Amino acid sequence: AAGTVDMGERPETLAAIDRAIHACRKCPIGLLENRAVMGEGPPGAPLMIVGEQPGDQEDLAGKPFVGPAGQLLDRHLERAGIDRQAAYVTNGVKHFKFVMRGKRRLHQSPTAKEIDTCRWWLEGERALVKPKVVLALGASAARSLLGRTASIARERGRPHALDDGSELWITAHPSYLLRLEGAAQEEQERLFAADLAAVAGRLAELV
Ligand code: URA
Repeated sequence: AAGTVDMGERPETLAAIDRAIHACRKCPIGLLENRAVMGEGPPGAPLMIVGEQPGDQEDLAGKPFVGPAGQLLDRHLERAGIDRQAAYVTNGVKHFKFVMRGKRRLHQSPTAKEIDTCRWWLEGERALVKPKVVLALGASAARSLLGRTASIARERGRPHALDDGSELWITAHPSYLLRLEGAAQEEQERLFAADLAAVAGRLAELV
């Protein structure tokens, strides 16, 4: 697909991808003091959930979506009746990108180029896990899957065909919901819940 960097032979197992991402220095994020965070979940999972990149807590734990954004995601998955343990949860970018502010590591968004470079690993995971439905959380994740800039507002709430025949659904990133307040937050949580309910409905039809 457009925007995919070819890095040679594709790893044949998830364990090989896990090893390879830890050694990957194809973009500047891999040069920071961080570790790579591999996706988590059963191969053959009907649903793949894709975030942007690990945050501070994910980088420390070595697992995706364990921090505040992950907790919000868990709450909504449960409400929608989606079993996180049965899904494969991963990120479009495998390393945590940050700047130091005193002792804190502050999240920085990956560039389009960094997303497009790291896409290789996500495509490898998709080829091995073979999900029927893919849920992109936020614009970076959507770019990882589509190879182009996506608009959440315009493209959420309906399926998009991916090259392997699976279905992509796009919604907001949970960290975005956490940054909002009051009525705006309520409105976005409602839209997020509706998107997850639609995904749950598709899974019930397809699986
Ligand atoms: N945000 C993400 O996009 N992914 C994580 O794993 C955690 C926070």
